[in-house]
Amino acid sequence: MKETTAIAHPNFALVKYWGKKDSNQNRPAMSSISITVDSMQSKTKIFKNKLSNCHQFFINGKEETDLSRIYPSLFYLSEISKSDDYLVIQSENNFPTSSGLASSASGIASFVTAYDAHYDLNLEMSNKIEACILGSGSAPRSLIGGFVLMDHKNNYSCTQVLSKADWPVDVLICLASKETKKISSRQGMEISKRTSPLYQDWLCRNDKDISLALEAIKEKDMSRLENVTEENCNFMHEVMKTSKPPIIYMNEVTHSCVAEIENLRASGHKLFYTVDAGPQIKIICDPKSTNTIKDTIAQKTDVIDIIHTGLGGSPRIIDEN
Ligand code: DP6
Repeated sequence: MKETTAIAHPNFALVKYWGKKDSNQNRPAMSSISITVDSMQSKTKIFKNKLSNCHQFFINGKEETDLSRIYPSLFYLSEISKSDDYLVIQSENNFPTSSGLASSASGIASFVTAYDAHYDLNLEMSNKIEACILGSGSAPRSLIGGFVLMDHKNNYSCTQVLSKADWPVDVLICLASKETKKISSRQGMEISKRTSPLYQDWLCRNDKDISLALEAIKEKDMSRLENVTEENCNFMHEVMKTSKPPIIYMNEVTHSCVAEIENLRASGHKLFYTVDAGPQIKIICDPKSTNTIKDTIAQKTDVIDIIHTGLGGSPRIIDEN
């Protein structure tokens, strides 16, 4: 029986999107810039379901009863493949799921990559982007490695700004909690869009943050990238906090990491942070400082674990036999 397996990596936004243009199509209301990382991965295998007349979706071995996440992408792809196969989709993450570590982005990107190969579709990039967005607004960025721009004014085109080889920064993902988040990004964004008095300002600053970050990345200027990334992240968390009810993803461990990052910077290390819809804090740093940063954060805060990775590449098909 034919089985196809693909691997994709999560991505973390430096300039973030928080808010959808239209909830039905799941399209982000703004552009974003991210980094795709390396050692964290989602692996998704697909094959025809010979045992039952329904799609079955498993995450880390557990069957999901709710297919609403994967179904829009699957429906879009099956319109192209003209296949009416029922599929078994088995996805595994080698990192905590649904806790602000972009498992949906890498999960969907690996599924779209596996489907494309399974049915020999040779999809255009624009079709892969569309299939990804329907599953998760940030998933198209996982189709590309390194520093990636997703441009909402250009049909969500995704382009690589710099590759890992161009600027090999290190990334430390500090786990502040392993709990699943209580408010999903999708729910949180809708609440912010409807209720935060800062939402319009957030939309308005997107163009400027995108151009500042693009310049900083192209010039490999760590301190300018630090300024725009941290300001963008903190503004997004203000939008969340000023929503009704307030949405708070950071916890005490996140805040203690921020304090240590500031101390490390004051003593000459080059690093900056970003935080998404969960308490985990991602540190981007000069590889010369990685060990010192890792040791300091491990000793001086209550982080559960620190994942050390670098920038990663685009998704790939693997042969499991
Ligand atoms: C805070 O793309 O994960 O990480 O479309 O519901 O899957 P869904 O949302 P998602 O939201 C990402 C939000 C963010 C910022 C970002 O990655 O740009």
